[in-house]
Amino acid sequence: MDQIAYVNGAFVALAEAKVSILDRGFLFADGIYEVTAVLDGRLIDNASHLARLERSVGEIALALPETLERIQEIQKQLIARNHLINGSIYLEVTRGADTARDFTFPKGGVRPTLIMFAQFKDIVNAPLAKRGMAVITVPDIRWARRDIKSVALLAQVLAKQAAAEAGAGEAWMIEDGKVTEGGSSSAFILTQDDVLVTRPNSSAILPGCTRKAVVALAEERQLRVEERPFSITEALAAKEAFVTSATLFVQAVVSIDGKTIANGRPGPMTDRLREIYIDFARRSAG
Ligand code: PDD
Repeated sequence: MDQIAYVNGAFVALAEAKVSILDRGFLFADGIYEVTAVLDGRLIDNASHLARLERSVGEIALALPETLERIQEIQKQLIARNHLINGSIYLEVTRGADTARDFTFPKGGVRPTLIMFAQFKDIVNAPLAKRGMAVITVPDIRWARRDIKSVALLAQVLAKQAAAEAGAGEAWMIEDGKVTEGGSSSAFILTQDDVLVTRPNSSAILPGCTRKAVVALAEERQLRVEERPFSITEALAAKEAFVTSATLFVQAVVSIDGKTIANGRPGPMTDRLREIYIDFARRSAG
């Protein structure tokens, strides 16, 4: 069966889904994206993703071409049309295609581009979740507004390619001696005295929806959470480490730059938080 994508109001075969070469997303990375997990055919924590979408487009003065309610309807239609059980819905909105390449915003009458497609992945039963993942470190060379979920991802493309070439699953980006976040995930450690540490939200990182839910779920269970930056030295001395994202949920990190953390296997707290998050996801799915 052909996969079905959504392009500016129409559901079309993925292979036929196209936008103009003048699209500002293509020319300038002038666009915003979101990825919402799908579990058992339902959207996970989508209100959080749509709220971040609204904030991101607001920060770049881009008006959404559809309401958030309509966007969610389209996401659900894509799930149905693709018979998507487990995976995610990718959505992207750009400032549209003008009649020429001009850095300044289109003068009017140019409708933003909205596209969506389905991605298939059994997130709950991903093999890496059982084994744990190696990460490498790279300098964080991104722009200064990482809180905006911009489609300008070249730094992450290079970071994650370097990770893949080193046999690792993720790259942790380092700025001023501290971890900012993963190439496409939020970073956590559990210290020897059982404090969960993750960097606070600021313009230095993307405010992860999974991160937010995991912090709240941990605090509800009386776990101590400290939102502060941490170094690789601290991470290597930690009891456990993990990353969070819509497409990984909670996933153990077992080594950094070839050096193992603890016994080199996913820790019990990481496994527990993964279960707690999956349970939350199932309960709150829509
Ligand atoms: N990435 N940090 C960065 C830089 C990210 O790109 C992502 C998500 C996260 C985690 O955010 P969330 O928990 O809301 O997924 C943190 C998505 C999955 C992607 O680019 O595919």
